Amino acid sequence: MQLTSEVVRKSYDDLNALFAVAFGGHIHNGYWYSTDDDSTLHVAMQRLNDLVIEKVAARKGWSVLDLGCGTGELARQFAEKSGCESVGVSNSQVQMAEANAAARAANLDGLAKFQFADAHSLPFPDARFDAALAVESLCQMEDRPRVFSEIARVLRPGGRLVVVDFAERVTISPGQKDFLTAEQQADFMRFGEIGDLFGRAGFHLLESMDLSWNIPLSQATMLEAIRQRRTELSAHYSAEFIDTFEDNWMKISEIFEKHMAYLLLIAEKAPL
Ligand SMILES: C[S@@+](CC[C@H](N)C(=O)[O-])C[C@H]1O[C@@H](n2cnc3c(N)ncnc32)[C@H](O)[C@@H]1O
Repeated sequence: MQLTSEVVRKSYDDLNALFAVAFGGHIHNGYWYSTDDDSTLHVAMQRLNDLVIEKVAARKGWSVLDLGCGTGELARQFAEKSGCESVGVSNSQVQMAEANAAARAANLDGLAKFQFADAHSLPFPDARFDAALAVESLCQMEDRPRVFSEIARVLRPGGRLVVVDFAERVTISPGQKDFLTAEQQADFMRFGEIGDLFGRAGFHLLESMDLSWNIPLSQATMLEAIRQRRTELSAHYSAEFIDTFEDNWMKISEIFEKHMAYLLLIAEKAPL
């Protein structure tokens, strides 16, 4: 199965209930201080959000784009904590409906707004935002250089970009990903690609943090969360679907462990 925006769009519509039930609004890894850290999955996932918000380092009056925002937890928290505007986009209609409903319920809809959009062609004017962030979303975008030039276009000169994502440290051979279902397609950045991706779009890398040692507990605790909610999930998915999803999760976890780094990258668009 080829990674395309359409495959990704459909998979997030279909998997929305699974992520909501099992992970409660976060669709990303957790951050643990060490392997002895016994924090829950929810606490660890929240820590990653806090770290991203800290790294955006928004100033009063900023407007921030969350690219591939899931159901909007991070963008809502950002708006609430900073008092700045956040605009989340995702290519899942289901996620956007949920994100807007949650913003309304929290009385944050004046500051946190969500709209359906494809990252390859953003519906915003040039220089609309002061900062952009993308947490575990670039790995699912089929044409990353195009997405980077779109991000650069909608950021003002000197605007900030914060990316959290996997990077392939050890090459994955094509056959190693054959087992992935449509819902699990991804194309991870290669280590050697990162400098070019940012540089060609006019970004200057300011900081790079390797979080690989903070996330190893994620895959197992996320799988456990899915298993614990099996009864609730069976209201939405067949037993066969959940079994395949779980089996693949274990295989993907092995790939993550052997091949992937997990990075937080902070960049700045060249000032005028
Ligand atoms: C793994 S989830 C991460 C969600 C959120 N950033 C978080 O950390 O919880 C990936 C997100 O990227 C979005 N996404 C993937 N490809 C996209 C595209 N081409 N355009 C817009 N959104 C996209 C998905 O819809 C989903 O919301």
